Amino acid sequence: MRALRVTPPAKGAHLGEVPAPELVPGTVRVRTLECGVCGTDRDIASGLYGQAPPGRPDLILGHENLGTVIETAAGVTGFAPGDLVVATVRRGCGKCRFCAANRSDFCETGAFTERGIRGQDGYMADEYVEAPDYLVRVPKALRSIAVILEPLSVVEKAVEQGAAVLARLHPPPSPTPSEPTALIAGTGAIGILAAFRLRLEGFGVTAIDRHGDDTPAGRLLAAIGARHVNAGTGLDVLGEQRFELIVEATGSANLDFALLQRLGPNGALVLTGIPAADRPPFLVAGGGLLRDVVLDNQAIVGSVNANRRYFALGLRHLAQFRRRWGTAIGDIITERHPLEEFATVLNAPTTGAMKSVLVVNPR
Ligand code: BGC
Repeated sequence: MRALRVTPPAKGAHLGEVPAPELVPGTVRVRTLECGVCGTDRDIASGLYGQAPPGRPDLILGHENLGTVIETAAGVTGFAPGDLVVATVRRGCGKCRFCAANRSDFCETGAFTERGIRGQDGYMADEYVEAPDYLVRVPKALRSIAVILEPLSVVEKAVEQGAAVLARLHPPPSPTPSEPTALIAGTGAIGILAAFRLRLEGFGVTAIDRHGDDTPAGRLLAAIGARHVNAGTGLDVLGEQRFELIVEATGSANLDFALLQRLGPNGALVLTGIPAADRPPFLVAGGGLLRDVVLDNQAIVGSVNANRRYFALGLRHLAQFRRRWGTAIGDIITERHPLEEFATVLNAPTTGAMKSVLVVNPR
């Protein structure tokens, strides 16, 4: 079968033939239809991240996925050929209580693997084999957008973390503001999905990036009633405004500290971007920042990955996005390319692009 492989920490990706994986008892064979490409994939292909499976130099890339079941091994129930499925990403460490409970996104040992990222082959190949525990069945009506379920699952978890912090304030004393306010930093797929999710939840949403309004992301934000602000010159453009909830989706450590100053009293800053660890250190006014965190009851929460419960939540919300805003959610997929054009897509995303998708098999 065809597979797109990387050899971390070397740069580059190569499309070539590899043997199809073996269908062992209790597993399902899936034909990959589509894979989304995100910053993590680009980092892996640039040699900055990623780890091959033990004893091998190469890793099949790809973790955002959509496929169709083509074969089930003996002992598998609940899946049949033709089913549309999305596979989760992380596989448990086999040691800790969270992984034992299929909540490896909260793994305590750090000894987990992630398909397409760390220690296990991913999905940018004609086929993969997986256990039913890690497969989420998708309604056929969501076929055209289900490839964004994995990034949405990440958003579902992040928003839930923020909401858990804000729940400290419940029940809210009167008078309650007409709309709670949220700031989203970054208008890639994670930021835009957070905008959809928080608009659904009744937040007044402001999303910042470093572009004008006339980009696919800017237009999509307008379509769902979110405000777009070009913060290319810094956060001063926001005036004095502070927010109850901030979701960060850029991976810029400098910006993380700047965002903290935009957090309102009792608010939550949820970080989802993964900053590069090798950047030179920089100065922050730490005392002042942390003093305000204490005096304003604020919380800074990191959120990574998602277990299958968040995939199930995402499926429910994808259907709700459709009901509320029609086909708008599909506009998040700004480009589709055949797998052969992987090099174009793995290079820097085009301005305003939200989600680039590689079509592995059309059906
Ligand atoms: C993936 C997550 C993963 C994280 C860290 C993200 O791009 O969506 O599933 O846990 O990278 O490796």
